[in-house]
Amino acid sequence: MEKRASFSHLGFIIAAAGSAIGLGNIWKFPYITYANEGGSFVLIYLAAVAAIGAPVMMAEILIGRRTSKSPVSAFLELARGIAGGRLWAGVGYLGVATGFIILSYYSVVAGWTVYYFGKCLYWSVTGFTPEIASGLGDQFGFFLGNGWLQLTFSILFMLMTMAVILMGVSKGIEGVTRVLMPILFVMLISLCVVSAWSPGFHEAIAFLFKSSHITRDGILEAVGQAFFSLSLGMGAMITYGSYTERTQSIRRDTAMVCILDTAIALMASLVMFSIIFSVPAAEREGTFTASSTILFTTIPRMLYALPGGVLWTPMFYLLVAFAALTSTISLLEVVVSYFIDHLGWSRPRSTWIVGLVTIALGGFSALSFGAYAPFSGVRPFGHHAVGIFDSMDYLATNWLLPVGGFFIAVFTGWFLSNRLTRDELEAGAGPFPLHWVWKWALRVLCPVAIGWILFAVVHGKAFN
Ligand code: PHE
Repeated sequence: MEKRASFSHLGFIIAAAGSAIGLGNIWKFPYITYANEGGSFVLIYLAAVAAIGAPVMMAEILIGRRTSKSPVSAFLELARGIAGGRLWAGVGYLGVATGFIILSYYSVVAGWTVYYFGKCLYWSVTGFTPEIASGLGDQFGFFLGNGWLQLTFSILFMLMTMAVILMGVSKGIEGVTRVLMPILFVMLISLCVVSAWSPGFHEAIAFLFKSSHITRDGILEAVGQAFFSLSLGMGAMITYGSYTERTQSIRRDTAMVCILDTAIALMASLVMFSIIFSVPAAEREGTFTASSTILFTTIPRMLYALPGGVLWTPMFYLLVAFAALTSTISLLEVVVSYFIDHLGWSRPRSTWIVGLVTIALGGFSALSFGAYAPFSGVRPFGHHAVGIFDSMDYLATNWLLPVGGFFIAVFTGWFLSNRLTRDELEAGAGPFPLHWVWKWALRVLCPVAIGWILFAVVHGKAFN
């Protein structure tokens, strides 16, 4: 069995932020913010991150670090001696299954970003003509329906993810995220600066921060998005936490990751809205009809229209691809580390087997955008989701992550002793006078809030 590696101090923060920052920030957040009319939704989202996301993230990192094990083994160890203790391993298994499912469809969209990076590089060199601009929607439709292209790019993305995981925790995960994340920040900040000169910038700021209409569904959606965006509910943070030392402050690191993740979501939204509000209102109709459409049809057209667009457009897709890669790495690591820790497989063997099985499962999602009619039309969840890709996303976002988060909160809040949790949260950080506030957040606030989401889902609401 391989010796347990560990992250450096900064390495852990960067890797965890890398897991959190991903398509959820750049692809989903701007879209649902728009759908919920901006301002007040953003405020509720911030509250959800602070009141529910942060306490659960602390719980996950704590479970991982305490045991130095990946989710299944970690729950088995901590639940020893509790009546029915072994059942808690179920939360770990649920996490492994969820990681596998999310990875299979996430890598498909991640593949699109690589394809569009290549396409935009080509257009930047050969010229982005008005004909190309007006045909972007059709192009995207063609790309979605082309099974070979869909398979090629999702497999390519999985192979890149596997290459990083094969290199191990410190060389692979830490080494790669340490390089990619700073580049991502610099690219995003330069895009923010560029967008400050666009005519839509002021409207974008006003949209994001002015007060707006709040709906009950908006509140539910904010909580669900906080889970997805912070990588919570499936043990990603348990797994990464298991590679940290006791000299690391869980409280400080959680704060850093939550702040970075939220800042990136807001910056990405600012860039997207500045670009979109730069077009006259009359031409905006239909821009936000589907989240995937904005990123791959509206954005290239509008980015190319900006000064220096030949540079910014490919860079934008590279940025999204980097963000996606640092997230798929964490998804794959959860599943791979289960086989390493629990079944004693070697890292290469575990990575190859898990990777290839995920590629096979991902094929169903990749072909469900019209390439293969039976995959595109199935509706296992009735009217909530059409096709395999949508159904997987529906299942993970609405069910698997909230259920996982619910049990992680209940377990840490009610079943781990105060002595143990306080000890972990004070290690490397000093006294924690607000320990009881955190504990009650996990005991009552989080289970009630998440229970409310699940109740809403049972009654027909969907968040993806
Ligand atoms: N947080 C990632 C994103 O925002 C997605 C993710 C979810 C990654 C769950 C790992 C675990 O894109």
